[in-house]
Amino acid sequence: MRIMITKSKNSLKLFLFCTLVLTVTETSASVFNNVSCSSNHTFTPNTTFNANLNTLLSYLSSNVTNNFRFFNTTSGEGSDTVYGLYMCRGDVPFALCRECVGFATLSIASSCPTSKEAVIWYNECLLRYSYRFFFSKMEEWPRHQVNIPLGDPVVLHSNKFYTALGSIFDELPNQAALALRGSNPYAVKQENASASVTLYGLAQCTPDLAAGDCKRCIADAAAEFAVSCCGGSIGASVLFPSCIVRYETYPFYQHSGTSAPTTIKGSGNIRTEVIVIAVVMVVVLVIIFFFGYYGFNRIKARKKSKASDDRENFGVEISVLESLEFDFATIEAATNKFSEDRRIGKGGYGEVYKGILPNGEEVAVKRLSTNSKQGAEEFKNEVLLIAKLQHKNLVRLIGFCQEDREKILIYEYVPNKSLDHFLFDPAKHRILTWSERYKIIKGIARGILYLHEDSRLKIIHRDIKPSNVLLDNDFDPKISDFGMARMVDTNQIQGCTNRVVGTYGYMPPEYAMHGHFSEKSDVFSFGVMILEIISGKKNSCSYESSRVDDLLSYAWNNWRDVSPFQLLDPSLVESYSPNEVEKCMQIGLLCVQENPDDRPIIGTIVSYLSNPSVEMPFPLEPAFFMQGRVRRHSAEHQSSSGYSINHSFSTSVNNMSTTVFFPR
Ligand SMILES: *[C@@H]1O[C@H](CO)[C@@H](O)[C@H](O)[C@H]1NC(C)=O
Ligand SMILES: *[C@@H]1O[C@H](CO)[C@@H](O)[C@H](O)[C@H]1NC(C)=O
Ligand SMILES: *[C@@H]1O[C@H](CO)[C@@H](O)[C@H](O)[C@H]1NC(C)=O
Ligand SMILES: *[C@@H]1O[C@H](CO)[C@@H](O)[C@H](O)[C@H]1NC(C)=O
Ligand SMILES: *[C@@H]1O[C@H](CO)[C@@H](O)[C@H](O)[C@H]1NC(C)=O
Ligand SMILES: *[C@@H]1O[C@H](CO)[C@@H](O)[C@H](O)[C@H]1NC(C)=O
Repeated sequence: MRIMITKSKNSLKLFLFCTLVLTVTETSASVFNNVSCSSNHTFTPNTTFNANLNTLLSYLSSNVTNNFRFFNTTSGEGSDTVYGLYMCRGDVPFALCRECVGFATLSIASSCPTSKEAVIWYNECLLRYSYRFFFSKMEEWPRHQVNIPLGDPVVLHSNKFYTALGSIFDELPNQAALALRGSNPYAVKQENASASVTLYGLAQCTPDLAAGDCKRCIADAAAEFAVSCCGGSIGASVLFPSCIVRYETYPFYQHSGTSAPTTIKGSGNIRTEVIVIAVVMVVVLVIIFFFGYYGFNRIKARKKSKASDDRENFGVEISVLESLEFDFATIEAATNKFSEDRRIGKGGYGEVYKGILPNGEEVAVKRLSTNSKQGAEEFKNEVLLIAKLQHKNLVRLIGFCQEDREKILIYEYVPNKSLDHFLFDPAKHRILTWSERYKIIKGIARGILYLHEDSRLKIIHRDIKPSNVLLDNDFDPKISDFGMARMVDTNQIQGCTNRVVGTYGYMPPEYAMHGHFSEKSDVFSFGVMILEIISGKKNSCSYESSRVDDLLSYAWNNWRDVSPFQLLDPSLVESYSPNEVEKCMQIGLLCVQENPDDRPIIGTIVSYLSNPSVEMPFPLEPAFFMQGRVRRHSAEHQSSSGYSINHSFSTSVNNMSTTVFFPR
């Protein structure tokens, strides 16, 4: 390092920079989770108990130098006795263990100045003390849970993810209990959750427990993964006083086997440890030198530390990110200070304004409602990913702005309004001819195909509907709002029923009821939209109605009675292609099948649409149709569209509703 520095012109500055970075990495090596101080058992300062507690904490922090990952001890006598223990995670090197326990003793003393009982959790260690004898007792309270809800929803909500998680935590209780009497009692297991995602799990009990208690503790802790919102986290830990469990999608533990942990013995391993640490230090220093020097010059150039933060986080993609970032003043000027007359829409995620950039380019500016808890880095990360998605049938994201509480997305401006403006407007729907509608259906299908299968990321839109399809001057469709769940509120990607994103009427039953979503959810929404495009009618959301009056039922009835053209928008009857209409209707019905497995994937739909003489399976009764359960559920939600089907259809609809095919 000295050689490198003397070569550098800015040696002093660089040295300071390196020191700073090193200090930061060092102090963050122990990751604090939480501390719980009992508030109903307290002691008064300067009493014997207080003195015993201080002695106990010093015993704990001094004995960690003996390189035990677990140690329990007692201080004092009689009613003033204090019991305490620390435990480091089994894979944590002794140096980190010492450091963690050191932090823990200081921190627990200052966080809980008068508690007779407390526990503190770090990623690397836990430490607890009490006025009562708690050794060998399995305790699950107090507890702390960490959820990392960020993640690719496709992976998170795939069956394989749950299966992998289940298989890991079915096995770990036993493994950890078996390892309990070994010298390093913890267990790890990894499992593939998809072609590219592997789950890593770890479980560990305090070794004073009996094997049976350990097993139960870990099983109970792992059960919390399922309780706390559907397991929809890309990583999580549950921390009890007696045991800890954790999973991540990266190998967070420094353990090299897949089955039982290797026994790590004190002194024998210290040399390897020192070598590993030395190698890591050298690598880190080289990296720091490289980036630090480069970063330093930029700071000088821009007089802003922001850029270097970004650089550390995004590496080479920084230039892309810089080209995407707009400052708030520019956006404010472009939208005339977000003036009312520039407002062109309001969506679920915020208001949309028309803006004109200094170079004259017209843009759509989406000002996100600021209830998102997502951090600046995550937001930028997602913007970067979404900006890379470029397709003729997707609205292009051209930039973002993030300042204070503002999060703004800047999109290309699409001149015509959204599809619903044409489709459901009595005055305008005639503008859309059948050939335009067919082109729109095909374009949307290709856009979804790109999102699902062709782009580097697999994106499930989750809110496919006509108001999210914009039309350009040639009535070519462009899908908007894709990737919003990733960019806006990471909580929303947890597949909870009470927090589903999307719009009723377009949501498949498995999503509306259970929060399960997959590519087939988008296929369902697309199917509803196809039927709406054919009929010019909005799918009914009047769920209280006892009549069979929704579009899906109506389409199915016409299909079953071999009279598909009754569904057709009356304004189209003079000019349409019967083959195309029939094909679209069949595809639409296939897409809205109740069972997701019966719905075609989008690639198949695109091939149906582009191949004039293709064989397609016959649809069954669509979803929402056989039972009233989805309706009842959905009625709890307010809906913007209380549409019920047009009078011209009502005769046939009423006839249908009296038949035995539709029990309610
Ligand atoms: C620690 O736990 C308490 C009580 O469970 C909670 O209110 C607090 O937010 C937690 N702190 C952190 C940093 O998670
Ligand atoms: C102490 O507080 C816990 C909850 O924090 C409660 O369950 C327990 O009953 C309390 N104990 C006493 C003696 O008040
Ligand atoms: C505790 O004792 C120290 C000296 O031993 C004294 O300075 C301090 O004021 C005492 N604190 C209380 C709360 O009595
Ligand atoms: C370790 O703990 C014991 C009590 O369990 C104590 O007597 C001893 O001083 C502590 N420190 C060291 C360095 O062993
Ligand atoms: C440590 O815990 C065990 C129970 O697991 C207990 O028997 C022993 O007395 C404890 N050691 C000390 C020094 O308190
Ligand atoms: C997990 O996937 C990797 C490659 O992606 C493969 O080599 C490995 O065998 C898989 N493991 C299991 C248990 O399927």
